Amino acid sequence: MQPRSAISLFTLTFMLSVTALVGASANAATPEESMTKAGCVACHAKEKKLVGPSYKDIAARYKGHANAVATLTDKVRKGGKGSFGPIPMSPNPPDKISDAELKAAVEYILAQ
Ligand code: HEC
Repeated sequence: MQPRSAISLFTLTFMLSVTALVGASANAATPEESMTKAGCVACHAKEKKLVGPSYKDIAARYKGHANAVATLTDKVRKGGKGSFGPIPMSPNPPDKISDAELKAAVEYILAQ
C-alpha cells in the first residue's frame, strides 16, 4: 500500500498547486493571458497578420489618436470591419472578456 499512498499524496499536492495557479491568474490575468483565454490569439498575433491585423499594425495606425482606447474597446466588443480591410472581426461578448480585461488588452495592443 505504500507506493499507492505516495502517488495519491503527489496527485493531491499537484492538484492543489494547479488550483492555486489558476486562482492567481484569474485574479490578476495579464493582458496576454486574457487575450489567450478570450480567443483573440486565434486571429491576432503581436508581429504578424493572421486573420486580423498584428498588434504592431494596430498600434501604428492609432498612434496619437486621443480616443483610440474607447473606440477600439467598443469595436472589439461589437465586432466589425472596414478599418483594415473587408474581413470582419466577430463580436467578443463579456462572457469571453470582461470590460476591465478588454480595456487592458486594447491598452496593451496600442503599446506595441
Ligand atoms: C475571428 C477573428 C478575430 C477574433 C477572434 C478577434 N479579432 Fe480583432 N480583428 C479581426 C479582424 C479581421 C480585424 C480587422 C477589422 C477591420 O478591418 O475593421 C480585427 C481588428 C481588431 C482591432 C482594430 C480594430 C480597428 O477598427 O482598427 C483590435 C484592437 C482588435 N481586433 C482586438 C481584438 C481583441 C482584443 C480580441 C479578443 C477579445 C480580438 N480582436 C478578437 C479578427 C478577430
